This record gives sequence, structure tokens and C-alpha cells, in this order.
Amino acid sequence: MNNFHHISVLLDEAIDALNINPVGVYVDCTLGGAGHAAKITQKLSKGGIFVGIDQDEDAIEAARERLTDTDAEINIVKDNFKNLRNILNDLKIEKVDGILFDLGVSSHQIDTAERGFSYINDGALDMRMDKEQKLSAYDVVNKYDEEDLERIFYEYGEERWGKRVAEFICDFRKKAPIKTTGELVNIIDRAIPKEVRKNTEGHSAKRIFQAVRIEVNDELNILEQSFKTAAEFLNSGGRLAVITFHSLEDRVCKNTFKELATDCLCPKDIPVCVCNHKKSVKIIGKPIRPGDREINVNSRAKSAILRVAEKLR
Ligand SMILES: C[S@@+](CC[C@H](N)C(=O)[O-])C[C@H]1O[C@@H](n2cnc3c(N)ncnc32)[C@H](O)[C@@H]1O
Repeated sequence: MNNFHHISVLLDEAIDALNINPVGVYVDCTLGGAGHAAKITQKLSKGGIFVGIDQDEDAIEAARERLTDTDAEINIVKDNFKNLRNILNDLKIEKVDGILFDLGVSSHQIDTAERGFSYINDGALDMRMDKEQKLSAYDVVNKYDEEDLERIFYEYGEERWGKRVAEFICDFRKKAPIKTTGELVNIIDRAIPKEVRKNTEGHSAKRIFQAVRIEVNDELNILEQSFKTAAEFLNSGGRLAVITFHSLEDRVCKNTFKELATDCLCPKDIPVCVCNHKKSVKIIGKPIRPGDREINVNSRAKSAILRVAEKLR
């Protein structure tokens, strides 16, 4: 996997946010090309422990090759970060000092046409981050009924032409299954009027592809609980850093952090607290976005937002 290509986003900012203690315990829930992981492990010394997780075998292989230049204990786990509790229990790790989530897909996944994530390079409709998973983009596009397609295009893609795209997909697949990303792009292009496409920021297929990808990998539903589990495992003063790439992910992060940083969650009209919720973290600073210099070098960074929370002392 030496050819694994991915430029880490908000690299220095995320590493600073984790406030690394050389003999601490750190978890990277989204290894990808191991760019953030390499920086973390370089800062660890003997006695430090690193856990890296990814559900993509390619990322695991890349991390195994890259994370060798350190005296820290390295644990690389192929799994979904929604299983963080079990992963740490299996490793007999009770508390950690920092956890990073750098969400979404890597450039390697997008740029490898046969992984089927790309609306630019033609490939089989796939989009599975975990190649062992059964559900693929082919199943979503060819087997979901029209109402479900319309719903995911609206909820996960915020695509206002989603209803028409769903109609066009269902019409097309009556004749033959939709097998490639190129075919899907052509159908989207036919469904969205030319004038609208011309005035859309970015590729006209971007939002539909995002929606299918989120559905295939169940990307959004697992976030809230994963962030809460992560916060639970933090030592006091430990840091949770999350990089998101679109408003749907960022909303979950913002709301979960807010909830974790709030004492009582009872409705405002209840005079006495009955929920007994106690805040467990404080939010550190304002959300961090990449500067122009980073965006000029890496356009993928454009929509990134880093949020940081610290476990209460
Ligand atoms: C943006 S990349 C991470 C890049 C990495 N930080 C770097 O600097 O090279 C996101 C990675 O997270 C993985 N991923 C996304 N959701 C996941 C999940 N729920 N469980 C495990 N891995 C996940 C993807 O497979 C992908 O490799």
C-alpha cells in the first residue's frame, strides 16, 4: 500500500488539539493513510500506547507499513469505530488521553475507480469502505424503492432534485440494472436540468453520490453514540478531536458536544431537574477551519471543520 494517497486535513491543528503526552494513550478512529496517526506516534515515546482503527483493509495495510518509526506500543485494528467500546475492552484499555475522528472517505478510496466512490472516474457501483460488508451502492441504487431513494437523496444529500433523480433511476433500471458510477452520473445529468447543473457549485452528481455513500456505510447514524463512547473513555483532561466534512456530520458533532457539555437536559418549562444529566466535557475554543493556504494545496479541505472537547478535570 505504498501508493496510498491522502493529504491529511488540519493536520497540525488536530495534533495540537490532542495535546499529546509522550507516555499517554491515543486512539485514531479513522486511520486512512495514517497521516494523523504518524504524527501522533512520532510524539509518543516508550510507555505510550497508540490504537488505530479503520474499517478499510487498504488503510490498515498502509498504516502497518507507515507506523514503524516509534517506540510506543502500536495496535492496529480493522473494525468500525462504532465498536470502540469492544475494541478498547479487548485491548484491556480502560482510559485514554486523546481520541481523533477524521470522518468520511480518504482520497485513496475516492481516486481508486474500482472502489466505486468517484463521479469522475468510472467504476463498478460499490462505495463500501469495508469490502467485507454486503450492502453496496449497487444494491441501494438498484433495489431500494423510489420513496426510499427520494428520502436518502433529501436527508443525506440535501439534493432538491432528489425526487426527479429517484424517478429517473427507477425508470432506467426497468430496462437494465445500473452497474457503474458513470451510468449513475449520466442518469443524474438527465434528471437535473442543464441550467441548474451549470449554476451548481461543484459536480452536479456530488450530492447524490454523498447520499448513496452515507447510506451504504451507515455513516451518520453511528456518530452520536461513537462520540459519547469516546468521551466516556477519556481520562480527565483528555481530548476528543473531530474533523467533519459536511454540514450533516458537523451538526451531529456540534449537538453531541453541546449535550455532553451541558448539566441538565430537561425541557425549559420543567422547574426542577429530573434528568440528572451531568456535563462531562468542556468545549475547547471555536470550531477550526483550514486557512486559504491549506485549501489552495488541498481542495478537499475546503469544507472541513475541527471541533475539540476536553474531559472535565
Ligand atoms: C478522511 S480518511 C482519514 C485520513 C487520515 N486521518 C490521514 O491523515 O491519513 C477517513 C478514513 O476513515 C475510515 N472510516 C470512515 N468511517 C469509519 C468507521 N465508521 N469505522 C472505521 N473506519 C471508518 C475510512 O475508511 C477512511 O479510511
